[in-house]
Amino acid sequence: MIKLGVNIDHVATVRQARMTYEPDPVTAALFADLAGADVITIHLREDRRHVQDRDVKILRETIYTKLNLEMALSNEIIDIALDVHPEQVTFVPEKREEITTEGGLNVVSQSSSISRTVEKFKEAGIIVSFFIAPDKDQILASREAGAEYIELHTGAYANAKTDYEKRTYLNTLKSAAEYATSIGIKVNAGHGLTYKNVIPIVRELNMEELHIGHSIIARSIFVGIKKAVREMKEIIFRYERR
Ligand code: PXP
Repeated sequence: MIKLGVNIDHVATVRQARMTYEPDPVTAALFADLAGADVITIHLREDRRHVQDRDVKILRETIYTKLNLEMALSNEIIDIALDVHPEQVTFVPEKREEITTEGGLNVVSQSSSISRTVEKFKEAGIIVSFFIAPDKDQILASREAGAEYIELHTGAYANAKTDYEKRTYLNTLKSAAEYATSIGIKVNAGHGLTYKNVIPIVRELNMEELHIGHSIIARSIFVGIKKAVREMKEIIFRYERR
């Protein structure tokens, strides 16, 4: 079954709005874990906009499901990641705003520097994934740079306005996933996915993990995080092609 990665950054966003101690993303992760999340994802940003160093450390000590740390390729964050030792790191582009659709990591233009970083993580026994656009050149460059996984950026699909546009982006994601699988890369997907637009993705894409944050945390305000996680798991279970 496709695994569900729950991104809890937005719990930290609410806490940081008041620079206080609540809501604690660590508590959110524990509840998401109890509700069946297969992966807990956090993004330690260079500006510490939401997740804090303390969150990453405590999560490492308390979460026994796979911990996936999204990170920019900055020396400071690389050192923290190697020290914390999550099961998986996902390299994402620097300085992105995350409120509009932006491309993924440009692996093609920086493949030799990225592959040196990949080596460090591999030596430490940490799985490496790249968050990239569904583009053949980026996928091939990812394999050459040593990525075991890629995470296909679903933002353009999620933001598509018309059915035609949605179908076109879905086809692009589908052929990117097929291509990646054919050259031996495991596929994850995420960004902008909701309880509604995730259905065709689950139905049509062969992949390992879905990474979803905003929509699950938004729903959890009304129904609680355990129910929100369970409902997303049910959608995956119901619609995944087997
Ligand atoms: N995947 C990656 C690499 C991300 O950076 C994010 C959050 O920015 C997500 C998935 C989850 O996106 P969303 O919060 O829109 O579900």
